Amino acid sequence: MNTGNLTFTIIKPNSVASGDVGRIIDRLICGGFVLRALRMLRMERARAEQFYAVHRERPFFDELTGFMTSGPVVVALLEGEDAVARLRSLVGNTDPALAEQGTIRRDFGLDKTRNAIHASDSDLNAAVEWQQFFTEEEINACTAHQGR
Ligand code: CMP
Repeated sequence: MNTGNLTFTIIKPNSVASGDVGRIIDRLICGGFVLRALRMLRMERARAEQFYAVHRERPFFDELTGFMTSGPVVVALLEGEDAVARLRSLVGNTDPALAEQGTIRRDFGLDKTRNAIHASDSDLNAAVEWQQFFTEEEINACTAHQGR
């Protein structure tokens, strides 16, 4: 797997609740990404705490993990050139109020916690993150069905 062309996203509970999953996936595809794997699920608290472990000491940790377990999310492995940087630019600033016009967080985010979508911040973290949700077998099976 060429990890430089891969990144990971979570479409957050506020986006699922507002019915914006399709619109957000469309933004990703129009932004040049191919879906390599996709699933809807409800995160357990322990899983959210593991996923955001790097933020454990931050004041927003409990609110963030509580929110991420408050309803279903959609997780996806995305492929595209310069994937991590490109996704972060499509997604925009952590704070939707500061995100540029036309970014996903500007259009679908509510505040820093309910900011519509997660985007991995490095190739290394992307790999660590997607491996928490998808097995190699699943990814390979999805890829085979796309004739890739
Ligand atoms: P995400 O891309 O999921 O990665 C870490 C998350 O922490 C981030 O999006 C925000 O939802 C959240 N976050 C980061 N900084 C703050 C903050 N100052 N206040 C509240 N939440 C934050």
